[in-house]
Amino acid sequence: MKLTLNSQPKETIATEALAVVVFESANGAPADEPFRRLDAQTGGLLSELYASGETTGKALDTVLLHHPTGLAAKRLLLVGGGKVEKFDAAQLRKAAGTALRYLKGRGVHEFVFAPSGGFSPEAQVAAAAEGMLAADFEPDSYKTDKKDDKRIDQASVAVSDNNGPKLEAALRRAVIAGECQNFARGLVNEPANRLAPKDLAARAQQMAAEKGLEIEILDEQRMRALGMGALLGVAQGSAEPPALILLRYRPSSPPSSDVHLGLVGKAVTFDTGGISIKPAEGMEKMKYDMAGGAAMIAVMRALADLKPSVPVSAFIPSVENMPGSRAQRPGDVQTTMSGKTVEVINTDAEGRLILADAMTYARQQGCTHLVDAATLTGAIVVALGHYNVGAFTNDQTWLERLLASARECGEKMWPMPLDDDYKEQLKSIIADLPNVGTRWGGAITAAMFLKEFADPTPWVHLDIAGTAWLEEAKPYMAKGPSGIAVRTLIDLAMKM
Ligand code: BES
Ligand code: MN
Ligand code: ZN
Repeated sequence: MKLTLNSQPKETIATEALAVVVFESANGAPADEPFRRLDAQTGGLLSELYASGETTGKALDTVLLHHPTGLAAKRLLLVGGGKVEKFDAAQLRKAAGTALRYLKGRGVHEFVFAPSGGFSPEAQVAAAAEGMLAADFEPDSYKTDKKDDKRIDQASVAVSDNNGPKLEAALRRAVIAGECQNFARGLVNEPANRLAPKDLAARAQQMAAEKGLEIEILDEQRMRALGMGALLGVAQGSAEPPALILLRYRPSSPPSSDVHLGLVGKAVTFDTGGISIKPAEGMEKMKYDMAGGAAMIAVMRALADLKPSVPVSAFIPSVENMPGSRAQRPGDVQTTMSGKTVEVINTDAEGRLILADAMTYARQQGCTHLVDAATLTGAIVVALGHYNVGAFTNDQTWLERLLASARECGEKMWPMPLDDDYKEQLKSIIADLPNVGTRWGGAITAAMFLKEFADPTPWVHLDIAGTAWLEEAKPYMAKGPSGIAVRTLIDLAMKM
């Protein structure tokens, strides 16, 4: 799908469909200026629809009209914006996405979306473009009877006047971020028989070659030489060899500070649980246990184009967690790269093991700020459901910066506690640490385990287990991988 700006007066735009946002109003038709203008241009068509109750402007309600009077467009799509005072960039993204998904598959291949909202034109363009790109993703890669007709080739964002390069720049950045979010979703959607660690590494390699990023893939031998016993312990149960994917971006002019962002992403291409095997029900979903790693690869892809002023490195430990005859057993003790020893109580708590070694390596490589993203615990889903990422930190200021980016990008993240009381639950009589705590606060004890390998480097841990996969289709997004955290981390890197 190609995205452009269109600065013609709305009524003169000759398009297959013009989509506009209309708001809820307590008494009759809304009174905002864009509404009144469009209503007048269409000879009162809009107020008629409100009067008949066919539209109310309720959030994401849609009404499609053919041959609207007074407009050059063939169709007019009204998308509900809800209450105008609650309409923010996040709502705008959803409205734009809803417009795209409604029109797609209804014989429309090209349309124009007219954003609104009480925020800057740049923010409107960015939100509309991001919303449309996210909406355009389909998870049906392996369906053989796909209708070629269900496709939007071209979408435009209507702007009142395209003065100078500011809006074009906002659009460009949004397109890069949106496309990279979808790139991550494509990786996450791949089944484990088609995306083992070696395949993820190959995809990263191909991307790096296209974008001119430095890449290195550490194999089992290198990991052994580095002492990554925790990562290798998880990998040993599978016939698929592990890979530690390293991607490096360096700014062309020397940075003014020694800041170096390190991104660490869990990439378990399939999590059976290992010897502590998971129940059959829902296990097929564990192909998305590499969503954190996919997000980091996608962020690096975007940064190669957007060129932030600080160096950024990504560390993606990738394994398949299987109960093969060589698999590690509950009770095994592994020595991590940091030198700390871990008693593996539960082989299903594998994410923290591979992240521990990747984080140690990231710190050794000189990263001054760390963020990890991982589908780490079922407990975070219990705590926050499917709407908020759990955000943990050892440095409040660093977390605040990340949360500011998250708010701007409309990716909901919620701060979780991480105080020393929880460390009481991490005691082993044989080794330095067990890999699981007690039954309660499982997302926090998991984060507490990671903290042992992050300190004293400022670090944020994002538990995306509840948010990396959409459990049901939304009017603005397909069911399946969400690409969570990609846009936030791009924004964070650009602001450093
Ligand atoms: N990959 C899972 C976490 C997960 C659960 C992701 C649900 C997505 C949806 C992780 O490796 C895991 O198995 N965690 C265990 C930890 C437990 C053994 C302490 C869990 O949450 O049950
Ligand atoms: Mn697991
Ligand atoms: Zn896992």
